[in-house]
Amino acid sequence: MSILQISKPVLGIETSCDETGVALLRWDRENPGRGLLSHELFSQVRLHAEYGGVVPELASRDHVRKLLPLVRKALADAGLGLSDLGGVAYTAGPGLVGALLVGGAAARAMAWALGVPAIGVHHMEGHLLAPLLEDDPPEPPFVALLVSGGHSMLVEVQGIGSYRILGDTLDDAAGEAFDKTAKMMGLPYPGGPALAKLAEQGRSGVYKFTRPMTDRPGFDFSFSGLKTQVLMAWKASDGSDQARADIARGFEEAIVDTLAIKCRRALAATGAGRLVIAGGVGANRRLRAQLAEAGAADGFRVYFPRLEFCTDNGAMIALAGAIRLAAGQHDDTLVVQPRWSLETLTAA
Ligand code: KG4
Ligand code: ZN
Repeated sequence: MSILQISKPVLGIETSCDETGVALLRWDRENPGRGLLSHELFSQVRLHAEYGGVVPELASRDHVRKLLPLVRKALADAGLGLSDLGGVAYTAGPGLVGALLVGGAAARAMAWALGVPAIGVHHMEGHLLAPLLEDDPPEPPFVALLVSGGHSMLVEVQGIGSYRILGDTLDDAAGEAFDKTAKMMGLPYPGGPALAKLAEQGRSGVYKFTRPMTDRPGFDFSFSGLKTQVLMAWKASDGSDQARADIARGFEEAIVDTLAIKCRRALAATGAGRLVIAGGVGANRRLRAQLAEAGAADGFRVYFPRLEFCTDNGAMIALAGAIRLAAGQHDDTLVVQPRWSLETLTAA
């Protein structure tokens, strides 16, 4: 298999869950964001909304329908043809196995037909590197807070591909806690953004929930108890719109405080001067504001991807794949890993 010709763009494909994401990126070491040529996203939210959560088989089938039209659109937007591609990167895990296979099979078939290298990307490495798509990108070493629907992790990033997990969730991920709590209070799927919006109308301090696991050392998270506290508060309330908004506010403050406390702790423990926030919950405005404040107080810099690159997208996969392809790496077969630890990755 040939290696990536650096001047040629990489096609990135994300299909690990309920978003079909496609992007074209020409590798630019100094400023990776400058190399982003086009990106396309189709969210399946409406498809899954009536079920209150992602239905894996429906997700796979919809990726089949949407993927190639999105690839054609991304190519057209960038004024390129398939033959201009230098490599193809796809999410190989973690995620829903059927959904991963759709993106992986399409990516590998295109790469094979074009005679260019293909590489499977770790979805969380994609999230973790997404802030590199912005101007003035962070250089490792840094600490990354990865908060998505499936993960809540604090990771010490010594270099690209060199990751040490400082803390993980013992039960629900931060995004999952947002989604389940929102569902409990009758908010539409996906709950996270809906709950965050409602919290803006809530009053601070009316409901004060615990900041789980902040009273003991370590960096792990646990959000299922908090969810139960919210359920009890909601059942004991008068069920009014104001009560719902006040509870949402109390819940959001509890999650954001907890994440901020652990981030400050991780920066102090590692001596890192940079914090990267990534994953869907990184789109939360209160979290962004509070961590920016913490950074100003403690003397660390905080880096966020733009909002559209916090949630799942093809650009982060194109970027992570381009970095590895540029380093001469590629995969020869399609292997997807629904469960896959970040710590097993090798340096790029
Ligand atoms: O990274 P992502 O798009 O998909 C996964 O890899 O899981 O993250 C999706 C998660 C969902 O749980 C969603 O509710 C949450 O991110 N989320 C938010 C916000 N926007 C998305 N949670 C809180 N506040 C938001 N503004
Ligand atoms: Zn994700």
